[in-house]
Amino acid sequence: LDRILVSPSVLAADFTELAAEIDRAVQGKADLIHLDVMDGCFVPNISFGPPVIKSIRKRTELILDTHIMIEHPVRYAKAFAEAGSDHLTFHLECADPTAEAIEAIRQAGCTVGISLKPATPAEAVFPWLDRIDLVLVMTVEPGFGGQKFMADQMPKIAAIRREIKRRNLHVQLEADGGIDETTVIPTASCGANMIVAGTSVFRHPGGAAEGIRLLHDAVS
Ligand code: DX5
Ligand code: ZN
Repeated sequence: LDRILVSPSVLAADFTELAAEIDRAVQGKADLIHLDVMDGCFVPNISFGPPVIKSIRKRTELILDTHIMIEHPVRYAKAFAEAGSDHLTFHLECADPTAEAIEAIRQAGCTVGISLKPATPAEAVFPWLDRIDLVLVMTVEPGFGGQKFMADQMPKIAAIRREIKRRNLHVQLEADGGIDETTVIPTASCGANMIVAGTSVFRHPGGAAEGIRLLHDAVS
């Protein structure tokens, strides 16, 4: 297996010491920082938005991997870009037309990602693959950290990887939800090269660096 990229999800961090938590992820050699934005409409939870991202931007030069679980990405793409996001990943199932969301994110200067909820089939993203940089496959229902990994999403990851290869595209394939040192193994084997991990990094008893190290070790 190729080396995976690990994107720790700040949703599982202790928000009273956000700066120290970011530092721990950086010192643990995180490849990116995953930022889960929730609007209380697209998902039944509310997290944080551009002001928090702007603060995190000042603390690290790592790629900010922003996952916007919101109904209206077109309306907010610029705000997330200006806050310092690098990747901006919206949901295919959101209320805005996909082509408009892609265009708004490009215009704002971010790399474009599309995320799929568990019930959305792999084929739904195929028509967009040549216009985007990243596909994010949810391995839990979006909305909350700390949920159980859905192994039934593995064939979807494999199908998207096959299509990326078949068309010789340079699209990153990321998986998100319930990933730890055990579930990372099938996820990477099916072709995900980028792994989001909240609980297994920021709540690891041995510390965030240990959580990141275990993810790499499991698939090397
Ligand atoms: C869920 C979020 C995930 C979540 C991952 O809606 O998109 O990024 O924070 O957390 P864990 O790793 O705890 O499942
Ligand atoms: Zn996420």
